[in-house]
Amino acid sequence: QQIVMSGIRPTGFLHLGNYFGALRNYVRMQNEFTCYFMVADLHALTTLTETKELKSNVARVLAENIACGLDPDKAALYCQSHVYETNELYLLLNMLAYKGELEKTVTFKEKARLHPDNVNAGLLTYPVLQAADILLHRATLVPVGKDQEQHLEMSRNFGNRFNHRFGDVFPEPHAFNYGDELVKVPSLDGAGKMSKSENQFATIYLSDDDELIRKKVMKAKTDSGTPEPGTPMGENISNLFSLMKLVCAPDVIEQFMNTYNNGTIRYGDLKKQLAEDMVKFISPIREKAEAIRTDEKYLKEIMEKGAAKARKSAQATMLLVRDAMGLNYY
Ligand code: TYM
Repeated sequence: QQIVMSGIRPTGFLHLGNYFGALRNYVRMQNEFTCYFMVADLHALTTLTETKELKSNVARVLAENIACGLDPDKAALYCQSHVYETNELYLLLNMLAYKGELEKTVTFKEKARLHPDNVNAGLLTYPVLQAADILLHRATLVPVGKDQEQHLEMSRNFGNRFNHRFGDVFPEPHAFNYGDELVKVPSLDGAGKMSKSENQFATIYLSDDDELIRKKVMKAKTDSGTPEPGTPMGENISNLFSLMKLVCAPDVIEQFMNTYNNGTIRYGDLKKQLAEDMVKFISPIREKAEAIRTDEKYLKEIMEKGAAKARKSAQATMLLVRDAMGLNYY
């Protein structure tokens, strides 16, 4: 059976991008594969200079995973830092990762530009740690959004390099989405992808209350006036249609598309529809997550169970790794 692995950093509130890029797939995959899903707290440390909010962010990510439908009895749900074998594999893979290729990583360049005062070695080797997470379970399917494509390519490279040098241990991991194409959920202002930290008003969080969701959607930019028939769709409107595809029923989208095509569309109505469907989608998740988030006993139990499952798989892989590398001296 194929093995699935993925993770989410506890660096802030989860949003629709995290859901449609990752979580939606997790929930379906847990019924078909052996799954390992984690809270990537070590990865979060690459950009944090203080850790006051780490505990509550970890609890939030766990709670939101479960509220979205993840069943800790089916998938292993754990915290990255609890699986110590990760650290060992990370260290060993570091010998296979070249400075040049790490420096070329898009996410590294972006973060180094945003935070020039904290370009630490952990940030540079972020993709090595991610490869360790994945290869540790010898996973082949990695449900992620489009922004993780390059990291997956690097994981494949490190795994293959290991296999060439030391013998076959790792199968190739690939980014996965049920819809084939990897997902990129745009932000409400159309400026790039939805993200945890950038422009909070252009991001819809799974924790946003109904009124806030409505406010954010109604503020989204539209084009002025209705389009000339036959002209290409403006970016703002096409962005809103992309978001509709995530939460609105196909026949509703078609109706709006028809009014767009015949020039009678009212953008206010379109945004109202989008807002209401987002509210309908998010409010049950928000309420469920809120209840779980504060249940420390339950979260502790889940984390321990998840870590035990993950470590068992990790230890089996590490035996193969040490063997292949000739580290079992006696
Ligand atoms: P992170 O925490 O940034 O994001 C978690 C997941 O959400 C997806 N995502 C999106 N998908 C579509 N549209 C968007 N706007 C959007 N924003 C975020 C991400 O692609 C990701 O799947 N490096 C990873 C965490 C990680 C990991 C791993 C993932 C650590 N180890 C091992 C897979 C396997 C990250 O920073 O994700």
